[in-house]
Amino acid sequence: MSNPIYSLQVDLPCSGIDRSYPIIIGHGVLSDSERFAALLGDSPVVLVSNDTVAPLYMSRVRDALGQGRKVTEVILPDGEDQKHLMSADQIWQKALEYHHERRSVFIALGGGVIGDLTGYSAACFLRGVDFIQLPTTLLAQVDSSVGGKTGVNHPLGKNMIGAFHQPRAVLIDLDSLQTLPDREFAAGIAEIIKYGCIWDPDFYHWLLEHSDALLTRNNEVLAEAIQRSCAIKADVVAQDEREGGLRAILNFGHTFAHAIEHVMGYGVWLHGEAVACGMVMAAQISATRGHVSEEMVIGLKRFLETFGLPVEPPSTMSAEVFLDAMAGDKKVVRGKIRYVLLEKLGDACLVDNVTIDEIAQTLAK
Ligand code: NAD
Ligand code: GLY
Repeated sequence: MSNPIYSLQVDLPCSGIDRSYPIIIGHGVLSDSERFAALLGDSPVVLVSNDTVAPLYMSRVRDALGQGRKVTEVILPDGEDQKHLMSADQIWQKALEYHHERRSVFIALGGGVIGDLTGYSAACFLRGVDFIQLPTTLLAQVDSSVGGKTGVNHPLGKNMIGAFHQPRAVLIDLDSLQTLPDREFAAGIAEIIKYGCIWDPDFYHWLLEHSDALLTRNNEVLAEAIQRSCAIKADVVAQDEREGGLRAILNFGHTFAHAIEHVMGYGVWLHGEAVACGMVMAAQISATRGHVSEEMVIGLKRFLETFGLPVEPPSTMSAEVFLDAMAGDKKVVRGKIRYVLLEKLGDACLVDNVTIDEIAQTLAK
C-alpha cells in the first residue's frame, strides 16, 4: 500500500455499527491496488464516472481494482444538468442487469456531480449499499466527497432530492488535479478559503500567505490546504451530521450563491464562483454590522480575485431579485431565509434577520 501524505478520520456517532471512515490524501492513490483490496475484500463494484474523467482516470482505477473482481462500469455524460433521477436510474439499471447485490460497493470517480449522484444511487440501491468517493476536482476533494450529503437535482430545485449516506472511504489522489481546468481549480479554492473564514483564522492567514504557491498548484501546499479543509469539515460533520445546527455554517456564502446560480442558470457561474461572490456579500454584511473589519473584506476580495474568482454579483441582480431567488432555497426555515454571517474571522453565526436594505447596501459597495 502506498504511503499517503495525510490520513484522517471522519468520526461519526456509533449507533450499533461504526460508520467512521478514512480520508486518504496522497499521490498515486487511484492506482493503489492494495488499498482497494483492503477496503473492498472480494466485493463486486459498480464504478461510476463521466465521459470527461473516465478517459483520464478510469483505466488506472480499473487496473487497481484487480482482474478477479466483478466491475460494472457506468459512464455518464458530463455536466450538472445530468445530476437528475434518470441518471441515477441508469446506474440502478446497469447494477440490476449485472446482478449486483448488497455486498457490492459503488465507487464514484469524478467531481461533485458524480459523487453526489453515485452516493445517492448507493443510498437507494437494495435499500442501501456502501460507496467510496474518488474525488477528482478540488471542490469535491475539500467539500462534497466528505460528509455524506448525496442527491440529485429536481426541476423545481437544486439538490432537492437526496439522502445522508456516508461513504466507506474518501480517497484523494493529488495527481488528478494536474488535469483540472483553472476555472474548476479556482472554484475549489473558494471552498477552501470558506473554511478559514468560518472556523480557523490561522488557516485563513496561512492561505493568504501561500496564495502564490496555491496559484501554481504547489503539491506540498495544496496537500496541506486539502488536509486542513477536510479536517475542518470532518470536525463539523462529526458534531452535527444531519445539519441540526452547526453544520449549516458550511453554507457561508451559499445563500447568495444559490440565488446567483438560480437566476443566471445552472452552469453559467460555477458553484465555487458563486460561493466566492456570496462570501464577499456575507462578509460585507458582517462588516457593516461591526463583526469584522472592512480590511478583512478587502483582503478576502483580493485573495479571491488572485484566482480569477468573481467578487461582484451580476449587475442585473437587485436586492429584490436576490430575495425572490433565495425564498425557494433549502435554507428557508419557518418561512425565514437563513444566512451565515461572521461573528468574527474564524467564527460563523446563523441569522435570519438580514434586511433588504443590508443586501441593497452590499450591492452598492
Ligand atoms: P463537477 O463534478 O461538474 O466537475 C467539474 C468539471 O470538471 C466537470 O466537467 C468534470 O467532468 C471535470 N473534471 C472532474 N475532475 C477532473 C479532472 N481531474 N481533470 C479534468 N476535468 C475534471 O463539479 P464539482 O465542482 O466537482 O462539483 C459540483 C457539484 O457538487 C454540484 O452538483 C454541487 O451541488 C455538489 N456539491 C455537493 C456537496 C455535498 O456536500 N454533497 C458540497 C458542495 C458541492
Ligand atoms: N457543503 C455543505 C455541507 O456538506 O454541509
